[in-house]
Amino acid sequence: VALRVPAGEGGAVIRPLTPEDVVAARSTAWAALRDLDERTGEEPMTETPLRAARSDSRIAWLQRTDPAGAWVAEVDGAVVGCALALVRDGMWFLSLLMVRPGHQHQGLGRQLLEAALRTRTDRSWILASTDPAALRRYQRAGFALHPTFTAKGVVDRSLLAAAPGVRAGSFTADAGLVADVSTAVRGASLEPDLPWFAESGHRFWVVPGRGYLLLAETRIAQLTARDEATARALLWTALAEADGEIEVDWLAADAQWAVDVTMAARLTYRWGGTICLSGQPPMPYALPSGAFG
Ligand SMILES: CC(C)(COP(=O)(O)OP(=O)(O)OC[C@H]1O[C@@H](n2cnc3c(N)ncnc32)[C@H](O)[C@@H]1OP(=O)(O)O)[C@@H](O)C(=O)NCCC(=O)NCCS
Repeated sequence: VALRVPAGEGGAVIRPLTPEDVVAARSTAWAALRDLDERTGEEPMTETPLRAARSDSRIAWLQRTDPAGAWVAEVDGAVVGCALALVRDGMWFLSLLMVRPGHQHQGLGRQLLEAALRTRTDRSWILASTDPAALRRYQRAGFALHPTFTAKGVVDRSLLAAAPGVRAGSFTADAGLVADVSTAVRGASLEPDLPWFAESGHRFWVVPGRGYLLLAETRIAQLTARDEATARALLWTALAEADGEIEVDWLAADAQWAVDVTMAARLTYRWGGTICLSGQPPMPYALPSGAFG
C-alpha cells in the first residue's frame, strides 16, 4: 500500500503515481533531461515518437510492478516531478528521479527520493546522471559514488574483432538463461522485466550459459556476463550491430575490459554518470541498464 506524504515546501504534494500520470511524468522527465543536457553542454537527445512510446511503457510498467516505489510531485494540479524505484529479489534500484526545470532547487527532488527510498533494501543502487544536485542527494542518502566514462562514436568496421560463441537470442527460449546469468551476476533476476525489453523493440544476443546483451538502436541497454571473455565478445557484438553511432555508458574503474574494447574501437571518451552503491556489490562484467539496473 502506497504512503501519502504531507504537502511540503512550495505547496507541492508528493503522492503515488497513477496510470493517468504516465504521459505527464514522461513529459516532465524529458524536460528535465533536455535542461540537464543544455546546462552541461551536451547535445540534447531528441524525443522521437519511438523514444516517447518507450518512456511511457517503461513508466507504466514500473507503476504496475512497483506501485509503492512510484511517486509524483504535484503543484496546482500539475505533475512537476516523479520518482520510480523497483525491487527484484531483494535488490532495490532507482529507475527515475526528475523535477521539471523551474521547480528545481525547492526540495522536491529530496522529497521524491525520500518517498522512493521507503522500499529500499540492504542491496540498493542508483545510476546517477551528471547532475550535481542528484549526486549530493545520493551521497547524503548513504550511497558510495563510483564515477564512470561514456564512450561514443561510429565504429570503423575494419577495427571490429571476433565475437566467439555469440548467437541471436530468443526472448522466450532464452528467458531461463537471462534468469540464471542475471541472478548470478547482479543478485536479482532480469527475467520478470524481459517482456518489457521485448515489447519495446530491443535486440538480443546470448552466449549460452555465460551472458547476454540487450541493444536499443544506438545504445547498450544491458550487457551481463559471468566472465571477461564473454563480456568482451558481447561488447564487440554491440559495436558491430549498432545502427551507425553507438554509445557505451557506465564504464567504471573495475570494467577495464570494456575500456580496452571501446578504446580499440576508437570511440570518443567523456565523463559519464556515477554508479551509486549501498550494499550492492560492483559488477565487473556488466554494463547496466539505466531503467532496470
Ligand atoms: C536531480 C533533481 C531530481 C533534483 O531535484 P531538485 O528538486 O532540484 O532537488 P532538491 O531541491 O531537493 O535538492 C537539491 C540538492 O542538491 C544541492 N545542489 C544543487 N546544486 C548543486 C551543485 N551544483 N552541487 C552540489 N549540490 C547541489 C542542493 O543544495 C540540495 O541539497 P540539500 O537538500 O542538501 O540542500 C533535478 O535537478 C533534476 O531533475 N535534474 C535533471 C534530471 C536528473 O539528472 N535527474 C537525476 C537522475 S539520476
